Amino acid sequence: MPNLKVYRIRKLSAELEMPGDKSMSHRAIMFAGLADGTTRVTGFLPSEDCLSTLHAMQALGVEIDSIDATTHLVQGRNAQFLAPGEPLDCGNSGTTMRLLTGLLAAQPFTTRLYGDASLTKRPMKRVKEPLERMGAAIRCEGADHRPPIEITGGPLRGIDYQTPVASAQLKSALLLAGLQAEGKTRVTEPTASRDHTERMLRHFHAHLAIEGWSVTVHGGTRLHAQDFHVPGDFSSAAFWLVAAAALPGAHLKITNAGLNPTRTGLLNVLLRMGAQLRESVASDSLEPCGTLEILEGTQLKGTEIGGDEIPNIIDEIPILAVAAALAQGRTVIKDAAELRVKESDRLAAVATNFRAFGVPIEETPDGLIIEGGAPLHAAKVPSYGDHRIAMASAILGLFADGASAIEDTACIRTSYPTFEKHLAEILDGDTSSKFAVKWPFKRTKAKKTESRSQETEAVD
Ligand code: S3P
Repeated sequence: MPNLKVYRIRKLSAELEMPGDKSMSHRAIMFAGLADGTTRVTGFLPSEDCLSTLHAMQALGVEIDSIDATTHLVQGRNAQFLAPGEPLDCGNSGTTMRLLTGLLAAQPFTTRLYGDASLTKRPMKRVKEPLERMGAAIRCEGADHRPPIEITGGPLRGIDYQTPVASAQLKSALLLAGLQAEGKTRVTEPTASRDHTERMLRHFHAHLAIEGWSVTVHGGTRLHAQDFHVPGDFSSAAFWLVAAAALPGAHLKITNAGLNPTRTGLLNVLLRMGAQLRESVASDSLEPCGTLEILEGTQLKGTEIGGDEIPNIIDEIPILAVAAALAQGRTVIKDAAELRVKESDRLAAVATNFRAFGVPIEETPDGLIIEGGAPLHAAKVPSYGDHRIAMASAILGLFADGASAIEDTACIRTSYPTFEKHLAEILDGDTSSKFAVKWPFKRTKAKKTESRSQETEAVD
């Protein structure tokens, strides 16, 4: 399993173009497969999670002609999939498993979905219960409604459902089932979650009624093929935004950033912490996209994070915890108990890893209390097989004295296969280092000297 080594960064002046958005890449392939006609998907993120979705759709009979890693021609099956010959592997991807469960709830055959050790621990009751109420037969093989999950689809009736959590995965699963059900399906969330499904279903010509935090679809709605370009992933940009915002004097430009307002809550938090940033929306049609700039890195200050903003920053809390550790003063994160059921228990993972770097941090049942500004020392920490924990820990390591190592970073490929390349580009711009790193990584035999400020290397 590869480890990632990181050293202190002293200067940052870089421009990075973001790869495709993970949430939208999953949906583009699924919705195109559900539609009639051929959809050309461009800007697709070729990460392991999104490839789990692409391969599952192929196993359901969807023909996909891959022009290159990011461009796919998808022949829609007009909501009539084929029974797969074998169980479908969802890998590490909760989005694949939960959205497919909704998609398959109306299909007249049985499908078994399974995943890796992390996905096998994630709760599926939230999708199972409402889909059973709609008429599907769903069996979870794990204890307490955990995967593997077996779906026997059939005729569905629409429901009016209040979700117990704000979850775009749950909302999307129910809307995908609702499109294939008899009658209307209304899904109401306790607060807003990301709205890619709503925007993209409209793009595929579905009629949706949106009122407050409720979305209604009509059963029997057919999706029509429509080319779709996936903008860059804001959640991937978040790692560099925090690194630059917290490093005095840094400058960073991120291009091709998805700027959907249900995803960009991190910008508001960083602004509250004193970051100097600029957001420029270049295209505001279906999914806003544009440029983000950290004008000048500075000393951040602590803040309070909670309430309705949590679903908007749900994937960014580990990297926001890094911003908090580097800020002056206390940061309190609350209302974030959902983090305990992500790819790892992210509250526990952040607290354990950050403590190893010297961050005074306390875990609460639904959040974290972080005393920022403590001097950080190098640490060797696990990834817990969780991509966002691995990447957030690597960014924290850029602010620690000495050589830090993040163990078992293969998980980064689930969402951001070019993370290490981008890290090398960021560090290459730091000319204060005479050991600037070149991509692809090679094992560096450089002698450690006091003057070395940073380098990275992949260690097998
Ligand atoms: C996602 C929704 C979020 C997010 C995940 C992707 C999506 O999960 O954490 O990374 O694509 O719908 P929840 O819906 O479980 O909050």
